[in-house]
Amino acid sequence: MKNVYSNIYTFNKKILKKTIKYLYEGNIVGLPTETVYGIAANAYSQKAVMKIFKIKGRPVKNPLIIHYHNIDNLKDDVIINENFIKLYKKFCPGPITFVLKKNKKSKICSKATANLNTVAIRFPSHKVVRSILKHIDFPVAMPSANISSSLSPISSYDVFEEFKNKLKLIVNGGKSKIGIESTVIDLSGKPKILRPGIIGANEMKNIIKLNLSKEISKLKSPGMLKKHYSPGIPIIMNKKSLNPKFAQIVIGKKYGIRKNYFNLSKKGDLKEAASNLYMTMRKIKKLGYKKIYITKIPNFGPGVAINDRLKRASK
Ligand code: TXA
Ligand code: MG
Repeated sequence: MKNVYSNIYTFNKKILKKTIKYLYEGNIVGLPTETVYGIAANAYSQKAVMKIFKIKGRPVKNPLIIHYHNIDNLKDDVIINENFIKLYKKFCPGPITFVLKKNKKSKICSKATANLNTVAIRFPSHKVVRSILKHIDFPVAMPSANISSSLSPISSYDVFEEFKNKLKLIVNGGKSKIGIESTVIDLSGKPKILRPGIIGANEMKNIIKLNLSKEISKLKSPGMLKKHYSPGIPIIMNKKSLNPKFAQIVIGKKYGIRKNYFNLSKKGDLKEAASNLYMTMRKIKKLGYKKIYITKIPNFGPGVAINDRLKRASK
């Protein structure tokens, strides 16, 4: 029988070589990271980067994150500063993205950064993507591997569901452990969190000075304004439904087992809940539920990132 997932490959030396070859040829490939899966292309090639926007249906004014192996590979692409060095030393490689000023000499193509004078950069920790980045002499532009505005994928099968055979290759690197996208912090001026993630303000505020005003920061991340992270069915937040026909997402041990109940973490652990969020919403949709209700999720630590995604998904 022919395998339907014919473009999903287990990572090994042969696939490493193949992935590198495809990237050098200007193709896009699906790759695992510790946060969510991404689709990657050579960030120095305008032609390759345009393929990403096209396949995702992504508005061209929404810039991409540029991924590097380590700080020595930045070359002259961005202007680094002290805040960046401090956070890099503490959290990288890992689930955090830094917005920095673009260097005039930068080789990153203008489309990747939506013609802005800033660049978002990240150093993912997943060993598959790290070994690929180590073997190429350009960084990769890599958004989450989903059609624009829908749920981010956390497995190679999710990526297949989004793009089917339109990608030449999807590397299987297991389930993304973190399960939601990286924290985005703007360091091009006074530090501001643009997108909350697993690394929160509390972890960072002892290392750098942080402005926690949400209102200002919202406007600066171009992709964060509209509806996003949507499973394609209505989401109602902070509410319990009495109707068993609707899916009910809960968190904590006080909820018993019911067919329409989906517990993000029985222990009430917010990090675990975040890692199960997208997977659970995909499952609910596949089961054919027409609506999702979600009980209140505490708004601290990883709960801030969960509520941020849910709020955008419910728009
Ligand atoms: O965890 C992640 O960050 C994943 C994995 C694949 O690395 N990537 C990801 O990319 O979430 P994407 O494209 O889905 O989200 C990137 C976010 C968008 O909200 C975009 O607007 C913002 O980063 N961004 C990119 N460049 C920016 C810039 N120069 N200034 C402000 N925001 C920027
Ligand atoms: Mg995305």
